Amino acid sequence: MSSFEKKTMKSKELYERACRVLPSGVSYGIRALPPYPFFVEEAQGVKLKDVDGNEYTDFWVGHGALILGHSPKRVIDAVRKQLPNGTHIGFSHELEIELAERIVRNVPSAEMVRYTTSGTEANMYGTRLARAYAGRMKMLKIEGGWHGGYDSLHKAVSYPFTKSESAGLNPKTTEDTDAVPFNDLDIARKRIRSREYACIILEPVMCAAGFIAPESGYLQGLREVCDETGTLLVFDEVVTGFRLAPGGAQELYGVKPDLTILGKIIGGGFPIGAFCGPTEIMERIDQKKYPKSEDRVAHGGTFTGNPISMVAGCTTLDLLKDGKTYITIDKLGRRMRDGLEDLFGRGRLPATVTGVGSTFAIHFQSKIPRNSADTARNDAAATKAYFTHMLDRGIIYLSPNVSHCWLSSPHTTEDIETYLTATEEFVRGYKP
Ligand SMILES: Cc1ncc(COP(=O)(O)O)c(C=O)c1O
Repeated sequence: MSSFEKKTMKSKELYERACRVLPSGVSYGIRALPPYPFFVEEAQGVKLKDVDGNEYTDFWVGHGALILGHSPKRVIDAVRKQLPNGTHIGFSHELEIELAERIVRNVPSAEMVRYTTSGTEANMYGTRLARAYAGRMKMLKIEGGWHGGYDSLHKAVSYPFTKSESAGLNPKTTEDTDAVPFNDLDIARKRIRSREYACIILEPVMCAAGFIAPESGYLQGLREVCDETGTLLVFDEVVTGFRLAPGGAQELYGVKPDLTILGKIIGGGFPIGAFCGPTEIMERIDQKKYPKSEDRVAHGGTFTGNPISMVAGCTTLDLLKDGKTYITIDKLGRRMRDGLEDLFGRGRLPATVTGVGSTFAIHFQSKIPRNSADTARNDAAATKAYFTHMLDRGIIYLSPNVSHCWLSSPHTTEDIETYLTATEEFVRGYKP
């Protein structure tokens, strides 16, 4: 029995119970940790306590959504205040304007906003809007790009990018979607110049492949070729929005997309998604301006504009406003990446580091990946062994197959040093 199993007996029991009613015993496949997931009883800051009383330092922070950590007091207080006034209104209310105004103030490409309840839906509606506006049906994405489970973008996600990503996925829904490698401007240009595509959708920093930064001129080059060909540039900033800067990666790299997809952080720990852009594009949703259904882009959802997500989002964005959080977490990110590079630079184990701001990823290979195909070359056995090693030391992230992590404001320099020490032990002790 492993040391993890010895200290997680109650979690094991819960897991067996979960498996009877939840496929794989989980609510999302990527949470099915080996040998079984620990079950969290309490989450505060960046500390998780499981049902057996074990503590973990969380480097996954709610799929990257919790930039202020778990249950920040000011957000919880604001939510508490809203609860007796309605948890789900189903009519118009002021909070939905409040959050949209904050998004418009911060995100360079945003003049108008519409909400959804997840990043997946935001991508679904956002790309529908792009197709309607451009008057074309085909879409271009990036190999390895993850935009949630929306059928038409659920293509070319996992290496070698040729197989169906899911049973039951109708090939007709993906046949108008093509994919190109990240950071290769020539290939993208060639495709876009065919003038067949409504849009190219990409994460400006490729988080799915380990927070890989765009190379100099890449995003600018995409902007130019999109302008030249009437193709919309869509940035999926579900991860990078309000994380790399208040205005996301588009602020950091100075490239304005036509449409921006948001999620995660803007919900302050509650379910959300949003798509936003200039009035000229967004008004295609407006039934006053486009009364005929065949001209108008349909959008909706029972829980859209949910007041709890709105108030939590507003409070979170207000807490981020003075910029101090970014200075703190980016500094921690730099310390972590420098520390890891220093460790790996000693040459005991081939490994490289990627990441921007408060994010970092470890690739067990000697080259720094430029795209998802490169990341796929990571040593899978070392990646998994590293995950198990870190978990045994109470350090947790997802997934076991890709070592990528987020930092949040409750993380401390001590958390970073503990992480680095545990990694050094791994580097010294790992035998392939
Ligand atoms: C870049 C990106 N887009 C979209 C999504 C989907 O968001 P959600 O899980 O809220 O549907 C994710 C989720 O991790 C993501 O990382």
